[in-house]
Amino acid sequence: MPLTRKAYRAAILHSIADPAEVGIEASYEYFEDGLLVVDNGQISALGHASELLASLPADIEITHYQDALITPGFIDTHIHLPQTGMVGAYGEQLLDWLNTYTFPCESQFADQAHAEEVAEIFIKELLRNGTTTALVFGSVHPQSVHAFFEAAEKLDLRMIAGKVMMDRNAPDYLTDTAESSYLESKALIERWHGKGRLHYAVTPRFAPTSTPEQLTLAGQLLGEYPDLYMQTHISENLQEVEWVKELFPERKGYLDVYDHYQLLGERSVFAHGVHLCDDECARLAQTGSAVAFCPTSNLFLGSGLFNLPMAEKHKLNVGLGTDVGGGTSFSLLQTLNEAYKIMQLQGARLSPFKSLYLATLGGARALRLEERIGTLQPGTDADFLVLDYNATPLLSYRLKQSKSIAETLFVLMTLGDDRTVAQTYAAGNLVHQR
Ligand code: GUN
Ligand code: ZN
Repeated sequence: MPLTRKAYRAAILHSIADPAEVGIEASYEYFEDGLLVVDNGQISALGHASELLASLPADIEITHYQDALITPGFIDTHIHLPQTGMVGAYGEQLLDWLNTYTFPCESQFADQAHAEEVAEIFIKELLRNGTTTALVFGSVHPQSVHAFFEAAEKLDLRMIAGKVMMDRNAPDYLTDTAESSYLESKALIERWHGKGRLHYAVTPRFAPTSTPEQLTLAGQLLGEYPDLYMQTHISENLQEVEWVKELFPERKGYLDVYDHYQLLGERSVFAHGVHLCDDECARLAQTGSAVAFCPTSNLFLGSGLFNLPMAEKHKLNVGLGTDVGGGTSFSLLQTLNEAYKIMQLQGARLSPFKSLYLATLGGARALRLEERIGTLQPGTDADFLVLDYNATPLLSYRLKQSKSIAETLFVLMTLGDDRTVAQTYAAGNLVHQR
């Protein structure tokens, strides 16, 4: 295959470590006039333009982005495809919100054509917002996941998804059975897991909607194939936590339910974790599990304030999630805007470099994909973004006052959204141009 080599010149910034572990200054690399070289969909070099240009052939194709910042593609570690059409549903907290709005909306995915239509809209929206990898809940219908993977495969995206397993405490029109959920998940795994850049996640919705039999089979599936993911929800809402105690009185607490059914591990991602206790954080960290912090959802559904410092204390892997449609934006920039305020309300700070880490390398680590995505290190997938400093008149004016990359980054996360993402590249291909 002939080598396709392209280079991109702009300011370039990426995380290289967790600021909580190495301090802020050692956590990132910034090239004020940088060059990113891409060979056949992978990054082959990154550095100062002045230094790298001398080593490259004179005729190399260089795209120069002025007044722009190149970063790694964003990673959304928790989002629901079949809730795209119900973002911003009024008035309820989690359990009533599920029954009133979510389940009826998800029921439409029994229709293959509807699933295909929404999968296209959903992926476009991810890319418009600079999200190049997401861990995605489908609906209970396998066709929702088929439609998603088919659309993602066309663009050679790195994506993870799974069919919801739920065999109780939901309307009849939306439940499977322990056995059918096992067989349908297995068929999707055989068809999609490891195909190109696609991965499968075993997806029990949350403890209240699965019988012990279904949770047992979810754990069994994880043992049957290498490198499968597991995604579910945990300790999002206080009523939910109480309900789990009633449904599983024999278990020590919410996390212990999942632990008992062998659902913890290095590729397990638990959404929310707002009401986790110290011991549960320790157990999650010990098993290499990760939590998806979902700021816009936690505020919108009135769920509570995620305790990021507690997670850091336990060295627990944390990624960011939009949790659309409980969350109100596909934008991880907007998600970080709300994350900052959640820390403020707890008397804590969220530095812009920690925020960058959460949206990129932290998410990649939560998904055990840090060798492939989340940074701009040579040898990794060329999934990256061009953020436009002039995206809106206010952003443009505000950034002219900026005195440092820290300030610029923080303002991008405060004022930025989908308009800020001028280009999105995945595997070296331009997959979104504003
Ligand atoms: N817990 C169980 N299902 C859901 C869901 O769809 N969204 C959120 N935010 N929490 C849940
Ligand atoms: Zn969710």
